[in-house]
Amino acid sequence: MNKALRSAVIAGNWKMNKTPSEAKTLIEELKPLVANAGCGVVICVPFVDLQVALEATAGTNIKVGAQNCHFEKSGAFTGEISADMLKEMGVEYVVLGHSERRQYFGETDVTVNKRTLAALNAGLKAIVCVGEKLEDREQGITEELVALQTKIALQGVSKQALKNVIIAYEPVWAIGTGKTATAEQANEVCAAIRATVAKVYDQETADGLTIQYGGSMNAGNAAELVAQPDVDGGLIGGASLKAADFAVIVDAASK
Ligand code: 13P
Repeated sequence: MNKALRSAVIAGNWKMNKTPSEAKTLIEELKPLVANAGCGVVICVPFVDLQVALEATAGTNIKVGAQNCHFEKSGAFTGEISADMLKEMGVEYVVLGHSERRQYFGETDVTVNKRTLAALNAGLKAIVCVGEKLEDREQGITEELVALQTKIALQGVSKQALKNVIIAYEPVWAIGTGKTATAEQANEVCAAIRATVAKVYDQETADGLTIQYGGSMNAGNAAELVAQPDVDGGLIGGASLKAADFAVIVDAASK
């Protein structure tokens, strides 16, 4: 259990917020606030904001990510964006399997796996989201379910390629609800994910894996969450849209 073996990453998931001009304003505000971060800083923005984000963050410590990509390389998939398209633009990260995509857009563990493989093959870093619904937690199946989601998402991912994967544990009941998992709950599930990865790969690989918590993480609760031994930063929704709040979270993870 050694946090020094892996890096903490704070990633903002802007979801469907901010036009390109609004994105530029927010990034300009954010840049000086996170310039001395002691952790990884990523902003995952809407597709149409990517170009502006790449330009505005050039030469800074802020990395840019997308919020999804398709699993096929190219073809008749109207409205979709491929991993190669993102890579060629200079995008480094992509969020995959977010619960909102699972809930509203038919994403399954199997398609999350296909997207993960496509993203890694294209040279992107994948932030793969897993997490239980409230009824799963009440039924006592959280750890089994999250372990299964993790295993399926990572099918066919080599040990080497896993270095480009971050797992984000996001309990669905905590997303956008203001209900945060307690630090203990977050740590327990992140530890269970690490144990799963240790079983599938090996302990050293699992110890090197960045596992984030996400779900109503904010400037007030971030410090306690990211201090947990198995929580390596966070995936931040609402609070990533406010530069000052996001910067406080980055500071908390830099300690
Ligand atoms: P909130 O921080 O708004 O709860 O969203 C979390 C999330 O879904 C990040 O991907």
